[in-house]
Amino acid sequence: MEAGRSKLIVVGCGGVGLALLEQIALLEKQDKHSVAVVAVIDSKHALCSGIPEGRQLTADTLYEIISCKRQGKDLGSVKRVDRGEFNFHENGAEMLKTLVNSCEEFRHSRLIFADCTASDSTAAVLLEAVQNGAGIALANKKPITGPYDVYTALTQQGKSFRAESTCGAGMPLIATVTRLVRSGDKISKMAGALSGTLGYVMSGLEDGKAFSQVVREAKAAGYTEPDPRDDLSGTDVARKALILARLQGWRLELADVTVESLFPTEMGPDSMPLNNFMNEGLLALDAPIAKRVEEAAASDGALRYAATVQDGKCTVGLVVVPKQSALGQLRGTDNLLEVCSGCYNPNPLVLQGRGAGTETTASGILADILELDDCLPPVPEPEPEPACDNCFYGFVL
Ligand SMILES: NC(=O)c1ccc[n+]([C@@H]2O[C@H](COP(=O)([O-])OP(=O)(O)OC[C@H]3O[C@@H](n4cnc5c(N)ncnc54)[C@H](OP(=O)(O)O)[C@@H]3O)[C@@H](O)[C@H]2O)c1
Repeated sequence: MEAGRSKLIVVGCGGVGLALLEQIALLEKQDKHSVAVVAVIDSKHALCSGIPEGRQLTADTLYEIISCKRQGKDLGSVKRVDRGEFNFHENGAEMLKTLVNSCEEFRHSRLIFADCTASDSTAAVLLEAVQNGAGIALANKKPITGPYDVYTALTQQGKSFRAESTCGAGMPLIATVTRLVRSGDKISKMAGALSGTLGYVMSGLEDGKAFSQVVREAKAAGYTEPDPRDDLSGTDVARKALILARLQGWRLELADVTVESLFPTEMGPDSMPLNNFMNEGLLALDAPIAKRVEEAAASDGALRYAATVQDGKCTVGLVVVPKQSALGQLRGTDNLLEVCSGCYNPNPLVLQGRGAGTETTASGILADILELDDCLPPVPEPEPEPACDNCFYGFVL
């Protein structure tokens, strides 16, 4: 392994984590060496090669990990291939803690942690890692949508923190908003469709389909979470809205975001089993949602499930937007963000593209990791051997 390459610890190897490993392995195979993966951790176990000596999990080992996990096997079944060397650890959480503790000792090893979990338990350990001089790249929104103090502590080391994939997957929403804020352009409003699932549902409603029909179609097509209420509740969009608000320095908490859920509390997962919701609950929602669609059409507008970040407030829910606006024209699962600012006025800056999918998200986090690799302090050159009495600038006299 080349000296000086950053060492990557991938935390979480589900859809996004495995797509990330696949993209890194492909680069290795093409001799376009990026970072060196030295550990892979899931909710139970860990595989780890050498830190700080610089061994890495080879591309063949990464493919072996991908194959095992995609077959539903655990990390313990990964076989050693070619020169791949690693240690298997029964307790992934413990191994993660050990690696984080090693950051300070091996500060010059340039460690980067990529959080590809959906867990809220990683924030504390990531905070320690960033304070110990490691780089952090997130696909997981939870560490930066918890308490504001944790958010600031994680992000204040701007050079060692990236989270582009937490909002809009691989689309550069965070980078764009950060550039505007840093350059002093005053953002007056951001409005966006930040859920591919809800975008699909809104397009179906616009085409005259019943809410129950379009939600069932979305579930069958794999666009929703296993329980579609995880999407329909709006909580995931609320986290994205909060991230956009915090980029502007707004001291808001998740509880401050006003969220309109597309189902009432009595149809929530704590009160109604999934089957009942799919078969009966959804049908009861058809009429009230069809009424909202009709009202929007009557005012020559389009009904969208949008996040609005304006005047110090975040709201998430159904809104009627002008049909000719970028949001009004949006169809299908794409994400879209309109940013109105001093410079982008009266026409907003509009970013649109695929806002979900494991490959897009993984390529976003890989781009973050490569940026961190550029930013982390270089590995110091080894101290030169002290000259002996008989040497003069390296020449033996
Ligand atoms: N999928 C997308 O299109 C997309 C788009 C944008 C952002 N994201 C975000 O990316 C993250 C990952 O999404 P995903 O679809 O890959 O999820 P996923 O398939 O559910 O994978 C989650 C992975 O995290 C592991 N994990 C859970 N808790 C852990 C812990 N405490 N320590 C270490 N590993 C842990 C799981 O381990 P096991 O394998 O042992 O279960 C699993 O490997 C989520 O936060 C999601 O919101 C996803």
